[in-house]
Amino acid sequence: MRIGLLTGGGDCPGLNAAIRAVVRHAHDEIGATVYGFRDGWRGVMEGTADELTRDEVRGLVSRGGTILGTSGVQPSRTSDGIDRVRETIAVHRLDGFIAIGGEGTMGACAAMPDVPIIGVPKTIDNDIAGTDHSIGFQTAVQIATELIDRLYSTAESHQRVMVCEVMGRSAGWIGLEAGIAGAADVILLPEHPFDIELVARRVKQRMLEERRFSIVVVSEGASPVPGTMDVPDYPLDENGWPRLGGIGSLVARELAARIGVESRITVLGHVQRGGSPVAYDRVLATRLGIAALEEAARGVWGVMVGMIGQRLVTSPIAEVAAAPRTVPETLWSLPQVLCD
Ligand code: F6P
Repeated sequence: MRIGLLTGGGDCPGLNAAIRAVVRHAHDEIGATVYGFRDGWRGVMEGTADELTRDEVRGLVSRGGTILGTSGVQPSRTSDGIDRVRETIAVHRLDGFIAIGGEGTMGACAAMPDVPIIGVPKTIDNDIAGTDHSIGFQTAVQIATELIDRLYSTAESHQRVMVCEVMGRSAGWIGLEAGIAGAADVILLPEHPFDIELVARRVKQRMLEERRFSIVVVSEGASPVPGTMDVPDYPLDENGWPRLGGIGSLVARELAARIGVESRITVLGHVQRGGSPVAYDRVLATRLGIAALEEAARGVWGVMVGMIGQRLVTSPIAEVAAAPRTVPETLWSLPQVLCD
């Protein structure tokens, strides 16, 4: 068997562990050759690939980023993109691809239904259906939690409101889990528009009755109830996605203005995606990488592998690409979550 391997979309911790798992399993168990394409689908369209040997993936389980590089390029968005993918399959005599990616990559795969692909879910946002967790999410939650812990002590010393903006696009998973783990007083998620007046009241009440500091976790995709606060439109990135960021500053400014309290904003940004994966992501990446290759060996294409509970499952790529998996109301409405 000859397999093309690529990583697409934003990087995250655990990608290299997945690459390592695919290459080792191909070499040790399946007898397949793996060709690595650089920079996601861009490399496939350019048609240049290098064979990935067992030696090249040595020591990768703990290394952040992706040795293959990544991009958000989607073949279906250029006039001859899909033809070039087909040409690459023919030139390299590939049986198919294993594409490790997030929502954008799964969308790119779904737009090429006749190209044999198996998807592996990765993204710190955790917004991919068909799996409980995507590779990288648990690491991002761990990093965000540790940073919130650090804000806690300085907030307490200075009696300030510390607003902490976390990533996640239109899904509040990082905000929810890091917010709960970091004992945030308020958590604002994209799934539930917030009322800044209620947030201000809650913070003020806490200052009067409990402690004179607060931690407010804001997901970058959170938005106010329409008409309650001005939020400028976000610029679009090269793939047409809104480039989020900045809602935390607006919340901090509003809280200072409404309750006269000193507030500060910390935007965690790309540190949530950098560095070494936690053990959970190393294990998940290894299991999903092996599972993807097993499906390929059985000739099952057009699916994404995932893990639900402790069970490895597959779902049609078209299904998982249809919509992001956001935080359900059963979770954001828990009393401990304190959405506003
Ligand atoms: O999808 C992962 C993610 O880190 C989001 O949480 C964030 O909004 C976005 O990517 C940032 O993208 P970029 O790396 O292009 O700034």
